[in-house]
This record gives sequence, structure tokens and C-alpha cells, in this order.
Amino acid sequence: MIKEYIQSNQQRFLDELFDLLRIPSVSADSRHKADVRKAAEYIVQKLKDAGAEAVQLCETKGHPIVYGEKIINPSLPTVLVYGHYDVQPPDPLNLWTSPPFEPVIKEGKIFARGSCDDKGQVYMHLKAFEAMMKLNQLSCNVKFMIEGEEEVGSDNLGIFVKENKAKLKADVILISDTSMISLEHPSITVGLRGLSYMEVEVTGPNRDLHSGVYGGAVANPINVLSKMIGSLHDENGRVTIPGFYDKVAELSPDDRKKLNEAPFDLAEYKKDLAIDDIQGEKGFTTLERTGIRPTLDANGIWGGYTGEGAKTVLPSKASAKISMRLVPNQDSQEISELFTKHFLSIAPKSVKVKVTVHHGGQPAVTPTDSKAFKAASDAFVEVWGKAPIPTRDGGSIPIVSLFKKELGLDTVLMGFGLDSDAIHSPNEHYGVKNFLIGIETIFTFYKHFSKK
Ligand code: BES
Ligand code: MN
Ligand code: MN
Repeated sequence: MIKEYIQSNQQRFLDELFDLLRIPSVSADSRHKADVRKAAEYIVQKLKDAGAEAVQLCETKGHPIVYGEKIINPSLPTVLVYGHYDVQPPDPLNLWTSPPFEPVIKEGKIFARGSCDDKGQVYMHLKAFEAMMKLNQLSCNVKFMIEGEEEVGSDNLGIFVKENKAKLKADVILISDTSMISLEHPSITVGLRGLSYMEVEVTGPNRDLHSGVYGGAVANPINVLSKMIGSLHDENGRVTIPGFYDKVAELSPDDRKKLNEAPFDLAEYKKDLAIDDIQGEKGFTTLERTGIRPTLDANGIWGGYTGEGAKTVLPSKASAKISMRLVPNQDSQEISELFTKHFLSIAPKSVKVKVTVHHGGQPAVTPTDSKAFKAASDAFVEVWGKAPIPTRDGGSIPIVSLFKKELGLDTVLMGFGLDSDAIHSPNEHYGVKNFLIGIETIFTFYKHFSKK
């Protein structure tokens, strides 16, 4: 029955998703503030159309949160669906083969910013809910909380959750904002990394200098910064910040073995990225390096002259943004402090260094022995004919650990994206197949979750 419903409505589902994708809801860019709101209002309308009640646009200090619910019987279990309608900036624009906010389907994939992360995945939940309402199949309570600040750290959602514990009372959180291995190998994410995001600024002389007149005698902030960043890894690919690994949870040999049983094709991986070789922490596989090991990466670096042609200048300043991905049981705040202390300590006397902490988030692992996980697993078996493989994803959804801490709730991460979907990159896309089978799998999840 659900298969037919999806099939006969799929064109409308896609048309509606396309309308949402046309709204440039870039949360990081204040010029798009009105667009972010427009996307929230669109979700509000679609939740109402699908049959949700108490649908509200909840104001925050930043972008609004959309809430809606359908309580069929307070004594039945409740699923709280979380997702985000904000998207990453589309830059660099010139690398898109079609405009980021003009969705098109090419080779069975929807190309648009947010198609996978996370509008396309949020929309699967709205349509699965619509189907349950239309087919009279909803057999538990459901609440929706869709935010507009995930890509900028979810600060206001954190406040909202703390202030609305009764409203958000539920039995489990359900999120589709992660990836799976492939359409042939469905998987459920059971771990996410945390994040510490830093900005550093190195200042040398009080002004830009002629690099001939002063070069060789005065510290060059770009040279110094590069060397400092370079020193943050040793020859084994390990981070050199003292204490960085102290709290890292080591997996048992058995758990490591299981993690590495997931299908992974190194040749395919390299081909997709057009790289001749991989790198990383010695003694760990690629799946381990992204799943269970912490990392440090420069995300941006600037300073000096970067315009056309050449300008012989010894710059006064150089800066970089540096992020660290964290694993259980590292603590984001603690790691930020360790970074700051270490980075200041390795600065030569010839420069001044400033370190600023941006947002962060705690890592999370989700249980695999809960009723909700079992329901998700059963849904995959029914729809895909295969049991999902548990995986650890390298990305971060900081709110997952906050849900546990503030609401005492575990999360099921039922994502339908692929690592190759180019989220946060130019030409982000999402398979039409993933979108449609996602709706069916979510629908089927509720069926199993509601069973006695
Ligand atoms: N949906 C992603 C996180 C993700 C992607 C998890 C793929 C697993 C697989 C989310 O929107 C995101 O981009 N999170 C940010 C963190 C946030 C604090 C800005 C991230 O991981 O960089
Ligand atoms: Mn996301
Ligand atoms: Mn994202």
C-alpha cells in the first residue's frame, strides 16, 4: 500500500521538495535571513497540509525552529523527529554545473544545495508522515522539530530544548541527516564525531613590509603559522597536542574487527576523489580513521597578498581556521582548551598569537539494543531485503549528545545520503531513489516501532 502511495504521488513529492530547495536558506549568511525564514514557513505549511497539529514557528535569538505534532493517544509511544532546513553556503559558485538553488534531476540525482543535507532528508519524514495520515496508518505519536541553525552550531536549539522539556517529551529521537554505505549496502549510523572549531591569528610587525627591505630579518606570520600548523602532526599522523588522546575510547579488537567488516573499496574511494594515495594516523584503517579516531585539520588559511599578479610583501598578519573531530570520551571544551594552551606555547617570541574558540559539539554513540533501533533494522530488512550494517560516521550532529543529556533520549540515525553526495561541496546531490526508498523505510520504521 505504501509503495503504491509513493509511486502515485512521487512527482508531487519531488515538486514540493524542489520548491523548498529553491529557497536559499543559508544560515551563516545574514543576507539570507529572510530566506531562512521563508524555508521555515514552507515547512510549517507542509506540516499542516500533511495533518500535523500545534504547528508553530518558534522564534529564537537567531533563525526560527519549526515545531509540529500529531498526538493520537498520549499513552502510546512518541517519536521526535529532528532535522534542519538551513543549508551551507553554496560557494564556490563557479564550480557548480547548474545553479545551487535551481534544482534539476541529472542521471537520477537531484542537484541543489541542501538536496541531501538536509532538506531532502527532512522532506522524506514529512511525506512518510503524510502517507501515514492519508492511509490511516499512524499508530504512535509523532513530534517534529526542524531547526534553521544546524550548520552554524545549533546554539539556540540548545536553549530551546532546555526550555521546552515537557513539550519535547518523547521516547526516541529519529534523525535522517547522515549517510549510508550504498544502495546495495544499507547501514545505520551508530556513532558521530564531536567537534572543536578554532580560529588562530598570528601577528608579526605592526604593518605590511617590503619583503626585500625587511625579509630575512623580521618574522613572517605566514611562514610562522604554516610551521606551527605543520607541527600539529607527527610523522605517524598523530596529533601532537599534549593530552589530546588521553580520553580517547579505544575499541576492543572484536569491535574493530566488526567495524572493518563493512564494505569499503579503497580503489573506488581514491577514484571518486581523484587522489593517488590516502594518508592518516598510522595503525588504523580508513574506516577507523574517519569513524573512531580524532583528527585535526586546517579548514581555511589566509594572509598577505592573494590578488592578481605579484606583490612583494611581508604581511603583518596571517590566520587560519582549524577544526578537530572528536571521538568518545573526548570533551569539546577540554580539547579546545588543550589546543589553545599548546598553540600559544609553540609560538616563537617574534610573533603574537591569538586563539579564538568557535562552536563545538560532543561526540555521540547510539545504542543498538533498543526497541527503536530494532524497528529501524526491521524496516531495512522489510524494504531492502537486507539487514543494515552499523557504521560510525565522521561528521557531527552536536545536538544528539544534547538530546541525551537534556531529555534523556537516545537517537536513531537513519540517514539515506551517500558520502559521494558532495554535501557542503559544489554540486551537492541526492538520489531520487534514496529519497523515495527513504520515505518507504521511514514509514515502515513506524510500523515496527508501534508493534507491541
Ligand atoms: N549532516 C551533517 C553531519 C553529517 C554528515 C553526519 C554526514 C554524518 C555524515 C551536518 O549538517 C553537518 O554538516 N554538521 C557539521 C557540524 C556543525 C556543528 C556545523 C559538521 O559535521 O561539520
Ligand atoms: Mn546535516
Ligand atoms: Mn551539514
